[in-house]
Amino acid sequence: MILVTGATGGLGSSTLKSLIKLSPNSKIWGMSHRLERSIELIELGINIRKGNYLDYESLVRGLQGVQTLVLISAPAFTDRLVQQTNAVKAAIECGVKKIIYTSIQQKTNSKFIIPEVTLVENATKKIIMDSGIGYTIVNNNLYADSLAFFLGPNVLANGISIPTGKGRGAFVSREEMGEGLAALALSNEFNNQEITFSNNRNWSGEDISRILSEIHGEAVPFLNFDRQSYIRVMEQSGIPLQAAGFSADWSEAIKNGELENCDATLAGLLKRNPLSLEDFLYKIYS
Ligand SMILES: NC(=O)c1ccc[n+]([C@@H]2O[C@H](COP(=O)([O-])OP(=O)(O)OC[C@H]3O[C@@H](n4cnc5c(N)ncnc54)[C@H](OP(=O)(O)O)[C@@H]3O)[C@@H](O)[C@H]2O)c1
Repeated sequence: MILVTGATGGLGSSTLKSLIKLSPNSKIWGMSHRLERSIELIELGINIRKGNYLDYESLVRGLQGVQTLVLISAPAFTDRLVQQTNAVKAAIECGVKKIIYTSIQQKTNSKFIIPEVTLVENATKKIIMDSGIGYTIVNNNLYADSLAFFLGPNVLANGISIPTGKGRGAFVSREEMGEGLAALALSNEFNNQEITFSNNRNWSGEDISRILSEIHGEAVPFLNFDRQSYIRVMEQSGIPLQAAGFSADWSEAIKNGELENCDATLAGLLKRNPLSLEDFLYKIYS
């Protein structure tokens, strides 16, 4: 049995929908802490169990009989390490055979820290690797969806203010990350390894300017603001300060080269190249 946590979230639901498409006869379950949001998944034939990362007993009930656990990392600005540790401990107690954990990419030997993210990711990976359970750690690039959020709601009118300098990233749509996770959960590859899900090309702020200018039919310049100016622009667009600051943190990770990568693993699982940023942004802005 394969169980995917975060069932109603973006990545979890995409993984479950792909799993059911790829292997309709497999035992596939989702785990959600908000069953009321699971109706769409249930209508697609996906079984849902209730489980809350903060309620250990609910995790133990939810993981009974599970062989492969796709553990979707908990959202930022929550007690993530406690939650993820609970999930791994429950997996041990339930005899889970393999954990596929969704983490983030970092440059090799990087000391760059994204607040709320990097240290928790490193600690969670260690807990999983030390658990005695088989694992695949999937280091995800930035979702193209998140990049679109960082651009802000008024990007076509205001220009591109993200503080990414000359940094580039191999952004991937969250939907395709889910599709890749589904293929991974059904395969017997990459056991006890860390792998990377990224696109097969990298894009910079200047590239995004070129793409949006083409779509919009007018120049959408890359302004490359500093951190404070960027946060001010985001707040003026109605984005709360915490979200604006977090977007700036991720943008600085791009600037530092943390997300520059070209790795063929995801393309191999998808059996095609991931959607380009050009095509992704075209869908949103045209
Ligand atoms: N690589 C990137 O660019 C990137 C960007 C954003 C986030 N992330 C990370 O990737 C994860 C998945 O991304 P996403 O876009 O799918 O996020 P999302 O849409 O916010 O989904 C996260 C899901 O986690 C589940 N969850 C939250 N609190 C929980 C709790 N106490 N107990 C059990 N489940 C809980 C929820 O699902 P249910 O309501 O169904 O339980 C929620 O929908 C995020 O949580 C974050 O750690 C990565």
